Amino acid sequence: MADSLDDRIQRLLDRDEDLLASPWQLFDDVREASEPAFYSGAMGAWVITSYQLLHDIVVDPETWSNRSPTATYDFRNPVADHAAAIAREPDMAEAVSRFRSRNRGRVLNTADPPEHVRQRRALNRAFRPARLRALEPEVISVSDQLVAGFAHRGRADLFREYAVLLPMVMISRMLGVPELELGKFKGWSDDFAIPIGRANPSRDEVRSYIRSESEFEDYFSAMIEQRQAEPRSDLISDVANAEVDGEPLTHEERITALRQFLLAGNETTTTLLANIGHRLATDHELRDRLAEDRDLVPAFVEEALRHEAPVTGLFRVATRDTQLGDKPVAKGEFAWVAFAAANRDPELCPMPDRFDIDRDSNDHVAFGYGEHYCIGQGLARLEGKVGTNAMLDLPNLTLADDHTYNYMDSYILRGLTQLLVTFDPFGGTLGN
Ligand code: HEM
Repeated sequence: MADSLDDRIQRLLDRDEDLLASPWQLFDDVREASEPAFYSGAMGAWVITSYQLLHDIVVDPETWSNRSPTATYDFRNPVADHAAAIAREPDMAEAVSRFRSRNRGRVLNTADPPEHVRQRRALNRAFRPARLRALEPEVISVSDQLVAGFAHRGRADLFREYAVLLPMVMISRMLGVPELELGKFKGWSDDFAIPIGRANPSRDEVRSYIRSESEFEDYFSAMIEQRQAEPRSDLISDVANAEVDGEPLTHEERITALRQFLLAGNETTTTLLANIGHRLATDHELRDRLAEDRDLVPAFVEEALRHEAPVTGLFRVATRDTQLGDKPVAKGEFAWVAFAAANRDPELCPMPDRFDIDRDSNDHVAFGYGEHYCIGQGLARLEGKVGTNAMLDLPNLTLADDHTYNYMDSYILRGLTQLLVTFDPFGGTLGN
């Protein structure tokens, strides 16, 4: 007998390799079988694959709240259980106690109006278009330096040597932290991703995650104090000195906002850049067309975002009894709003599985929609554009014969973890 939808969702939660590589048929089947929403016992949530329904949910924070520690994390995961055991380890007791109190904080992605509106008003300035415009030459220069590291070789892992590094270097520069600290930041950022989209992180991983949160807080508390005394033109100064109607942000809000910038700004943009590289290395007709006409690059980046959204889906919780179409929903039930699935809804665009940069419109929800629309989308789009141009400059970019497909171990953040390519060598730097 064929697997039921719920069996297949369970396999996705268990991070079955085939489903991580291609969840699309499952999402289509959920959408078709269960107009307008499917309750998954395996996930313990309504799975929302319809574009319209996702839209209706994310614009209604009074009914569908982000104010839950599980808005981004898998609510079945054993972080809390492991934390209880780790708290008994003498050198971890303080870190766990801080972790627990921090977890009660409601900031940005885990906040609702009016708190959330206040926070966004205070922080939107940090990503203002003028700052991003001023940043473009710097993104290009960092991108050029990364490419110079492998251009002469004619071969690279574009994931490790480019897609991971560009967002990491850029967010560090925007924050205003020394680049010498990059390794530390990458470690924190990877650790913060541990509980996301995985049902069973090990105790060692949870310990590492809790420790990283404490280290991060200590490091940035000192930076915040420094920037309050001597503001500079960087993101930490903006966060340190942000206020709304004369009211400053709280310490918790500042630290959590910075933590979300680091995590949300890294893994997702890395995935976008890897998807871009993969598309160019495998679709040579499109690659050559884009190389000839760079004005098409922004439409290409938007289609890359739509076609394989880096954030597959996140959670909301019902604040009252409600309905999804004609299906009753009880207060306290969860919904998994699957941005990646909604982007492949035929109601959004014809032939959604096709990668087509000539679409008349592209109202994808890869950055979400409504209150929580991604605060960093301008930066991500800028890096997507610069990254595409850099990869188009690698002559004859092609997927290497020994490339193998491996995906992140998460059903929430979907992306490649390697991208082996070849191209005609050029330029180069001494010593590489
Ligand atoms: C391709 C790259 C990116 C993708 C696909 C992406 C995706 C998303 C999505 C889907 C949301 C909405 C969450 C929801 O509705 O619950 C979101 C929110 C957010 N993103 Fe991004 N993001 C990207 C890059 C960035 C960058 C570069 C930053 C910061 C430097 C960032 C910071 C945030 C933050 C702080 C939120 C929470 C906003 C709020 O709740 O008000 N993201 N992002």
